[in-house]
Amino acid sequence: MEFVEQLKSSVDIVRTIGEYVRLKKAGGSSRYTGLCPFHNEKTPSFSVNPIHQRFKCFGCGVGGDVIEFIMQIDRLTFFEALKLLAERNGIAMPKREYADADSRLRAALLEMHEMAAALFQSNLSGTGGADARAYLAGRGVPQEDLDTFALGLSDSGGQQLFRRIDQTRFPPEVLEQSGLVMKRQEGGGFYDRFRGRLMFPIHDHSGKTIAFGGRALRAGDEPKYLNSPETRLYHKTYVLYNLHRAKDAIRKLDYSILVEGYMDVIGVYSAGIRNVVASCGTALTNTQVRTLKQHSERIVVNFDPDAAGSNATEKYMQLLLDEGMTVRVLELDRNLDPDEYIKELGVDAYRARLEKAPSYFHWLADRARKKFDIHTVEGRIQGFKFVAPSIERVPDRLERFAIANDIAGYLGVDAHMVRDHFSRNQKAANRPASRGPVVPPNERLLLNSLLASELARMQVIPHLSEMSVIERFTTRNVFRAIFTLHHDQVSFRFSDLEGRLEDADRDLLSAVVFADDIIEEQDALAQAVACLESLRAQEPKSEMAELRARVQTAEREGNLEEALRLADELNRRSRR
Ligand code: GTP
Ligand code: MN
Repeated sequence: MEFVEQLKSSVDIVRTIGEYVRLKKAGGSSRYTGLCPFHNEKTPSFSVNPIHQRFKCFGCGVGGDVIEFIMQIDRLTFFEALKLLAERNGIAMPKREYADADSRLRAALLEMHEMAAALFQSNLSGTGGADARAYLAGRGVPQEDLDTFALGLSDSGGQQLFRRIDQTRFPPEVLEQSGLVMKRQEGGGFYDRFRGRLMFPIHDHSGKTIAFGGRALRAGDEPKYLNSPETRLYHKTYVLYNLHRAKDAIRKLDYSILVEGYMDVIGVYSAGIRNVVASCGTALTNTQVRTLKQHSERIVVNFDPDAAGSNATEKYMQLLLDEGMTVRVLELDRNLDPDEYIKELGVDAYRARLEKAPSYFHWLADRARKKFDIHTVEGRIQGFKFVAPSIERVPDRLERFAIANDIAGYLGVDAHMVRDHFSRNQKAANRPASRGPVVPPNERLLLNSLLASELARMQVIPHLSEMSVIERFTTRNVFRAIFTLHHDQVSFRFSDLEGRLEDADRDLLSAVVFADDIIEEQDALAQAVACLESLRAQEPKSEMAELRARVQTAEREGNLEEALRLADELNRRSRR
């Protein structure tokens, strides 16, 4: 496939991946590193190598070339990824490369959406759009924003869009999958999903229209917002409204603003604050959060005024914290949503509130102050306990302690109590597991203890290296490398260990060191010895199992002499 090679060599992998991930040049090498977009992490283990034209995450193990990156991040087929890269880089694509049914379907759906968006826009600017234009003017949306957001109007008759679609090119099966028209229950034929609604196109991160939200224009029309269903183009749980316009600003300002509604996005964005996004009328998902995190780890959540303190809000915040985001909360007064607030008090007032927005934990502490009597010791402790469960979920240990101390100070709670509380609850903390290769817990604990302490290595390795169970470990190569290093070298450096491993084993090692077992140096020896004991208990059994397996293999291979010899050995041992 020479086109593929040609494409790969003319595409700049660092620039392409840099569109999705904030990359930094790794000091002194040609590599670039950043936070992996495929799993949740705090410290960068994602790396791009422009010389080999490959990417790799040492945390979760994904890796590949630029085409594979696009396939995974945009959830595209191979052909779609090729096409997208070719288009973005102005490279002509040979026709035969399109010959993939799924790509054809997506291309057809994209074309229909583009056509629909243009039709809706022309409806809004045409004679039939007068009422809708008046409505928008009444809400203070200027012409400029209509263009920026490509707002439109769907015809109320329910046939306009359907009739525009060229049915010789788009057969009924494709129409049905578009989400734009719906099949009649009886009598055959289709009608438009969106009728007489104000239309908000929803884009993917590169700016292609993939769905719509439609707002009712008359009070009392239900539902107030009607959204496109899930289609081959539109996966609700991944998409954020306005992300393709906001992402540059999010990176530059290093935070995003999350609001609830389409109109809020429009109000905030057109007032000049560009780093604003919303979910499209569904509850926020972890995939959306990860998408945001690719651009910045910091976020300001701007609730609707009645939402603060509700159960849904709490879940929402936990989700953000679990994904490792740094969260601030902007709660507007006067019962106004962001759009209304800016219209009534001006963008400067909004900006001032934005800048002063407290961290989530301070915001919670403020709520605790209102809930409990902070003048009494008892009340302060209750207040702290109210905030503590959220602090416990902060994935990074040092950060968790720092926040706990800060909030304790803020509520006037004794720092010792905080320390107690947190060391007791350390193990109970419910932190999300990261993906990546799975290392059995006993191997993981043993490795982490060996890595944590020289004393543990000195005491345990001489015994461990004699044991045959090691050979059956998933991480046997990592152990072997540790043994060799321990044997050869006075000092033990992690980078030396990494340097001795093949990619797959290095991934295992990162799964081990990124796991959440915290082994302090002073506990490591005891831990390692405990692991050693439990391995010893298994040792004879597993040796026998291995012998048995070798007997079977020899039999299968017709090597009877060997099989007999091994069986003999097995017998001798089991008698022992
Ligand atoms: P305005 O009421 O015009 O100011 O719009 P808004 O964007 O401020 O909407 P609102 O605060 O009422 O709702 C927030 C978001 O929730 C909307 O932008 C929609 O995405 C979604 N939403 C609201 N009502 C509905 C509904 O009836 N159905 C669905 N599917 N989504 C809704
Ligand atoms: Mn609103």
